[in-house]
Amino acid sequence: MKYYLIFIGCIVMSCSNKDATLKVSDHAEEQFIDSLLSKMTLNEKIGQTNLRGTSSRSKVLSEALKEDVRQGKVGALLNVMNVEFVDELQRIAVEESPNNIPIIFGRDIVHGFKTVFPIPLGMAASWDENVVRSSSRVAAIEARSVGINWTFAPMLDIARDSRWGRIAESPGEDPYLASVLGKAYIKGFQGDSLNGSTSIAACAKHYIGYGAAMGGRDYNTTLIPEPLLRNVYLPPFKAALDAGVATVMTSFNEINGIPASGNAYLLKEVLRDELEFDGFVVSDWDSVIEMIAHGYAADEKHAAELSAKAGLDMEMTSKAYENHLKELIEEGVITRSQLDGFVKNILRIKLRMGLFKTPYRDKNNEASFYAKSHLKAAEEAAIKSSVLLKNNGVLPLSSDMKVALMGPLANAPLDQMGTWTFDGEEEHSITPFKAFETANLNVVFEPVLTHSRDRSTEGFEKAIRVAKQSDVIVFVAGEEAILSGEAHSRAVINLPGAQEDLIKTLSKTGKPIILVIMAGRPITITNIIDDVDAVLMFWHPGTMGGPALQQVLYGEREPEGRLPVTWPKSSGQLPYFYNHKNTGRPANKQDYVAMYDIPIGAWQSSLGNDSHYLDIGYTPHFPFGYGLGYTQFKYDDLKISKDTIGFNDTLEVKVSIANLGDRPGKEIVQLYTQDVVGSITRPVKELKRFQHVTVKPGETKQMTFRISSDDLKFTNHEGTRAAETGDFNIWIGPHAASGLKETFYLKE
Ligand code: NOJ
Repeated sequence: MKYYLIFIGCIVMSCSNKDATLKVSDHAEEQFIDSLLSKMTLNEKIGQTNLRGTSSRSKVLSEALKEDVRQGKVGALLNVMNVEFVDELQRIAVEESPNNIPIIFGRDIVHGFKTVFPIPLGMAASWDENVVRSSSRVAAIEARSVGINWTFAPMLDIARDSRWGRIAESPGEDPYLASVLGKAYIKGFQGDSLNGSTSIAACAKHYIGYGAAMGGRDYNTTLIPEPLLRNVYLPPFKAALDAGVATVMTSFNEINGIPASGNAYLLKEVLRDELEFDGFVVSDWDSVIEMIAHGYAADEKHAAELSAKAGLDMEMTSKAYENHLKELIEEGVITRSQLDGFVKNILRIKLRMGLFKTPYRDKNNEASFYAKSHLKAAEEAAIKSSVLLKNNGVLPLSSDMKVALMGPLANAPLDQMGTWTFDGEEEHSITPFKAFETANLNVVFEPVLTHSRDRSTEGFEKAIRVAKQSDVIVFVAGEEAILSGEAHSRAVINLPGAQEDLIKTLSKTGKPIILVIMAGRPITITNIIDDVDAVLMFWHPGTMGGPALQQVLYGEREPEGRLPVTWPKSSGQLPYFYNHKNTGRPANKQDYVAMYDIPIGAWQSSLGNDSHYLDIGYTPHFPFGYGLGYTQFKYDDLKISKDTIGFNDTLEVKVSIANLGDRPGKEIVQLYTQDVVGSITRPVKELKRFQHVTVKPGETKQMTFRISSDDLKFTNHEGTRAAETGDFNIWIGPHAASGLKETFYLKE
């Protein structure tokens, strides 16, 4: 071990950002890796490619695992959650394994470790890089204290279908927003430098197209034409690489017939050659051997060959590499230098993480679980991610009102944490019920339904009595955490169980109802929207959901979030996203005839033949970017600096925002463009910029945006990425379905 330490002493370790000053250290880095590699046996090299899964519930440290680590058969471990086991396994690796190579300890730290933040889709609703960065910083600090130094996050899959259970983990449907937030996650996890004492290596996943699963059914096949891949699914990964992400995970899905974990085009040509990724690529859980079920690999050995040829560096949990790489190399199917390439990528990250110098967790880095500042950050995130969808004036509440607090999610400490929260503890969750009680508010708590799927109507009568004695009903509805996340797709995405019935029953009391939704996805509410007076989307808000909700409902804070996904009227509209193409027959108001308005026996072609549904029309329930606050804004005076710009020009766009209400308000001002005619058809709108602004009552603020031809680039069917001359529309507004419009021309 000692000789490495001396050598590494002269290496600049902060390599997470690729700037020019790192060139010298890159050279030293490679020298170190080469020298280490030259001492390793074939078995040890294969060992480095092995990410061994363990059960976080294990009470004993298995002798077999210790022996494998001792022999250098393990490069990384997954889910070792006992600190003593972490310490002991690392000790064996650095003191007893043949070349003393430290282990990486991975875990899904997705939206917090102990302190749980809103689910990633909720975080995306904040549209706020600072909030996102502080969430992943807090997660890294807490996780690192127990020896975890690698997280399988952020998930950067563009999700256009709310049936997909993993939309909860996604940054939503927009490539630009996902790119901005993806970078922020990585900066938070990895800190200023990958070798910082509270940094953890991030993993951009799932590469790629996992969110395009047909029908929103998890793991399903995807068909992604090249322009779609490059214009929609790839940008967040590119942004992650620009932010210095250490690792990338392949996805479970096949893309156009080839599973991601055996896809040489995506891994070699795109990720390595074009995007110049120099960290390591890990498979998803068993995704190498799942190529057999996909019908792409004949058996485990073939799967190892396909993944190795595609350039996959590390295999998660399955053992195709461990069992077959040696044989494949001896047979000359895989070359030694291919394997060396994988090992180098892995060692490079271990080196950048500072593991050769500081392999052990910092025992002075006391666990700071649930530190005050962490809870504050989680509370802030929950407030900033809350999206007000409807308000007929009932919100904000006044503190003298008598509130009936109802619904299955009003006191559901586990469920409010959402999916992927193995480490969050429900006893630390502050539910709305607890928060309202602590704040001494005039509240009667009557959940009526015990969980979101509860179908019993037994408590309805009592609920009516309680409602009648109150001024207002706060109904916290939604989905339990288990109804979204991996493998938890739903075909119908309304409120499950008897929730809709109960809301309808309560509405008959005439008392105003505030519907708060805690869920992992948009929930269709067309059946009940007219029965309620306000709708607040609260996602699964995490540990501090209760206090955050209380502040928002009582107007101490505004609901500051905006939708990161289009909210459908019905799951029959899915997939549905704002940046769709126009079609040859775009839907329009004049031609649309709703199903029940069609005359009986009508002649087929008497109806407007354009792209809509007869039964639910052609608009979403709420558009991408939508969200109300407690004041009203007026957008005015949109001005562009030029009507025509060249490829090297910058277009300045100005707009004024006036606060017409009587309280200060926050707005997320959004800029969209449309390339009117393209060499391939272009989306009807694309988000290019957004800015947060706070405006006082009676005040008008002027906002300035700048875009250039770089922002107008896209990849066409020939694989060329360029901006094309021609007409562009530009909008600035509060969401994707509204805004002031201007036009400009991009010339040669
Ligand atoms: C499977 C999931 O798809 C992936 O996101 C996760 O990181 C791994 N399991 C490890 O838990």
